[in-house]
Amino acid sequence: MKAIISNGFGGPEVLSLGEAAKPEINENEILIKVAATALNRADTLQREGKYPPPKGESEIIGLEAAGVVEQTGKAVTRWKKGDKVCCLLAGGAYAEYVKVHQHLAMPTPQKLSLEESAAIPEVFLTAYQALISLCEMQVGEKVLIHAGGSGVGTAAIQLAKLRNAEIFVTASKAKHQTCFELGANHAIDYKSQDFAEEIKEFTKGKGVDVVIDFMGASYFKNNLDVMGMDGRMVMLAWMGGFKLDSLNLVPVLSKRLKIMGSTLRARSVDYKKTLIEGFTNDFLPYFDKGELKPVIDTVMSWSAIQEAHARMDANLNTGKIILKVD
Ligand SMILES: NC(=O)c1ccc[n+]([C@@H]2O[C@H](COP(=O)([O-])OP(=O)(O)OC[C@H]3O[C@@H](n4cnc5c(N)ncnc54)[C@H](OP(=O)(O)O)[C@@H]3O)[C@@H](O)[C@H]2O)c1
Repeated sequence: MKAIISNGFGGPEVLSLGEAAKPEINENEILIKVAATALNRADTLQREGKYPPPKGESEIIGLEAAGVVEQTGKAVTRWKKGDKVCCLLAGGAYAEYVKVHQHLAMPTPQKLSLEESAAIPEVFLTAYQALISLCEMQVGEKVLIHAGGSGVGTAAIQLAKLRNAEIFVTASKAKHQTCFELGANHAIDYKSQDFAEEIKEFTKGKGVDVVIDFMGASYFKNNLDVMGMDGRMVMLAWMGGFKLDSLNLVPVLSKRLKIMGSTLRARSVDYKKTLIEGFTNDFLPYFDKGELKPVIDTVMSWSAIQEAHARMDANLNTGKIILKVD
């Protein structure tokens, strides 16, 4: 089959269209003919050699895909040949075919194309896991979502909006309009404003209930500062570093904070299955109602893979970069 191949580690130039072995399914898996896949920040890290696939997973980059079921394993009960699905993968999505456990695929919303559906799995499931499963966000709470214009950020804003949250985002100025259109109430330009000062002013010193963080060290002190009583934070990445020289732990105790970290890629099938069932029941129907939408930055042919990765490297995307597997 055709696939995007990595010729060593490095910049976007190491990626090119080539050939790879077609996956073989086991009895619980389905084989999908991929119509579209989408970029994630993890893909650029894997390309650079900083985020290897979990043991036993495909070496091909790519964490999500949408397409049509081509073949089903003997024990598969959920799908039949011809079904349109999108799926969460631990790797292998930049390819003509992918295999996935039957419970890690979701039906594509009827009103969305396969290209649009490819933008759903990784970022919406990450946002669902962070806001709902881990931070147990309650209706009407105050939520701070960093990198509001990122794939995960744009998904999180929409999920929080459906729960009537008051939403604060940090993002570069050019991405504020999109954040507002998706439901953010306040947008902070982290390049020229101190987000902790802004939020303390907006909330009259009370702070927020939930923080979704991707920055790690560079935001940690300010994150502790803006969390209110019984605040919860989940850290999903450390784009701003992972070491702190000193830290005052007083707010953790005095405000009874819960600070968590999470990953998705290397989780067990059972964990991901539970997450996917929860998301499918709680939120998937909102795509057909028009109350959730995949936020798409660009749709490109997968032959333009180098251009697609360069765009993400430069932080130019607001939402998802989709690759058509044509
Ligand atoms: N742990 C997990 O389970 C999990 C799962 C999925 C994704 N993630 C992580 O979540 C993050 C978002 O992923 P994504 O695919 O949605 O990324 P994305 O669409 O590429 O967006 C990332 C955005 O973060 C902002 N940014 C980058 N460096 C920054 C910095 N130093 N300070 C502040 N903002 C910065 C940029 O927007 P601005 O223009 O606003 O700066 C950039 O566009 C990534 O770090 C990814 O690795 C974690």
